[in-house]
Amino acid sequence: MTSANRSVIIAGNWKMYKTIEEAVAFVKELIPLVEHHAALVYLAVPFTAIKSVADAAKGSPLMIGAQNMNDASEGAFTGEIAGKMLKDAGAKFVILGHSERRRFFHETNSFINKKIKRALLDNLQVILCIGETRDQREAGKTHEVLAAQIDEGLEGITEEQLERVILAYEPVWAIGMPQPADADTAEEAQAFCRKKIGEKWGEKSAEQMVIQYGGSVKPDNAKEFLDQPDIDGLLVGGASLSVEDFSKIINCYNSTNV
Ligand code: PGA
Repeated sequence: MTSANRSVIIAGNWKMYKTIEEAVAFVKELIPLVEHHAALVYLAVPFTAIKSVADAAKGSPLMIGAQNMNDASEGAFTGEIAGKMLKDAGAKFVILGHSERRRFFHETNSFINKKIKRALLDNLQVILCIGETRDQREAGKTHEVLAAQIDEGLEGITEEQLERVILAYEPVWAIGMPQPADADTAEEAQAFCRKKIGEKWGEKSAEQMVIQYGGSVKPDNAKEFLDQPDIDGLLVGGASLSVEDFSKIINCYNSTNV
């Protein structure tokens, strides 16, 4: 728990990597670590691996999830996947609004909002990714962009529903880079996001909201982020593909962190 009594959630986002066999072997190795850990550990795996990995993780605290879903409950949408199918396969959460989806698949805040509403109806927890590009930061628009992503992405979400939403602040310029954002920069942005949540949904929601940092988190920088008061966890891409690196990152958190 952080000083504000929020859970700390460390999530891996595997993106488009790992076969079923590789995924199951990874999870079997990871489970003993997460069994009695102070942090909650989530893993967003490719669709094809969800069922096998969720079966392998059954009875352990490891939470398995997906990286995207459609906004409809079902229908004639060739190639798409519904939240209830993810749930059926064993997913407990879904990442929505990742910058790669916004950039390569042209997802807008309002479309992401529809997906969030559907995911919550389908009883999936949501990790909503937000973050500014380098150009937006250099133009002094970071707060404006984050505010719009929160306002539009979470439009119509009730205080009660918000309890099942995790925010992940992922500055686009820090994803997949040799260097992450510095911890002070991330803390400043995340404190702004928490303030914004408070203005819209009230102090209680702001206090409860888990806000992760994501963008080039590695074993040697994870602790700096976890030590910040408004950083309640991490969303890890590249380094979550190695069980050794991901385990080291998880072990950067213990109950002595603020
Ligand atoms: P990265 O990815 O850790 O490889 O920068 C983070 C993410 O895209 O969620």
